[in-house]
Amino acid sequence: MITLAHISDLHVDGGSRARERVEQVMAYLDAVADSVDALVVTGDLTENGTVGELEEARALLSGRLPAVICPGNHDVVEGRAPFRRVMLGSEGGEKGDPGEAPVNAVHRADGGAVVLCDSTVPSEDGGLLSEETLDWLEDTLADLRQTPVVLGFHHHPVKLHTPYVDHIAMQGADRLSVLLARHPQVAGLLCGHAHTAAATAFAQRPLLVAPGTVSVAPLPWEDAEQVYAAHPPALAFHILDDEGRMTTHFRTAPAGRT
Ligand SMILES: [Fe+2]
Ligand SMILES: [Fe+2]
Repeated sequence: MITLAHISDLHVDGGSRARERVEQVMAYLDAVADSVDALVVTGDLTENGTVGELEEARALLSGRLPAVICPGNHDVVEGRAPFRRVMLGSEGGEKGDPGEAPVNAVHRADGGAVVLCDSTVPSEDGGLLSEETLDWLEDTLADLRQTPVVLGFHHHPVKLHTPYVDHIAMQGADRLSVLLARHPQVAGLLCGHAHTAAATAFAQRPLLVAPGTVSVAPLPWEDAEQVYAAHPPALAFHILDDEGRMTTHFRTAPAGRT
């Protein structure tokens, strides 16, 4: 069994709102870290993907939990190289390609694994899993055939009925669906991007959308300003059990713990 803490859409920009809300979540997590295996961050760590913002996000996320991270559209405004350099401490591929290759990640723990795919298209808001990422995912899941897996990415592959993000979702998701049909050990799917704690389904698996740390996106019948002001930062816990089932609990991070 593994337990994952899941946050997304920090949008760190040097300002106090984003910073304080991440600090609030991290303080909450620090207190329960002994019961959690890893922190999963599904993108948009920063607002503009600058080195300064990325360094601030890295510092805010450093805690007792190993962080498994993929980029979001806001992190790769100028390409993937700054994200790769700051967040992973790596310059990129061995073959001299500069760090523009997709930033995919796998974290194995006792009893399960979390796999994160880079769904970004640098300088675009919409998403896509590249050929390279789909090949990597196929190989990675083949190696994890006997292991329960949670798979995450930034962009949602299905319509969420939210006004701001449905037109910048993941394109070409049918290819992911076909791939997942070969890998029944994938128990559940995670994404961010939509800034709303939500549950839906994709490829016959549960798909859980992380609440946005920095803000909640209003639903069509909600008042945007009220929603922006009212919701404290939140996170999700995903428990992947030995029966290969993913169970999710959403929490808000209490104020006053930083
Ligand atoms: Fe976002
Ligand atoms: Fe996003």
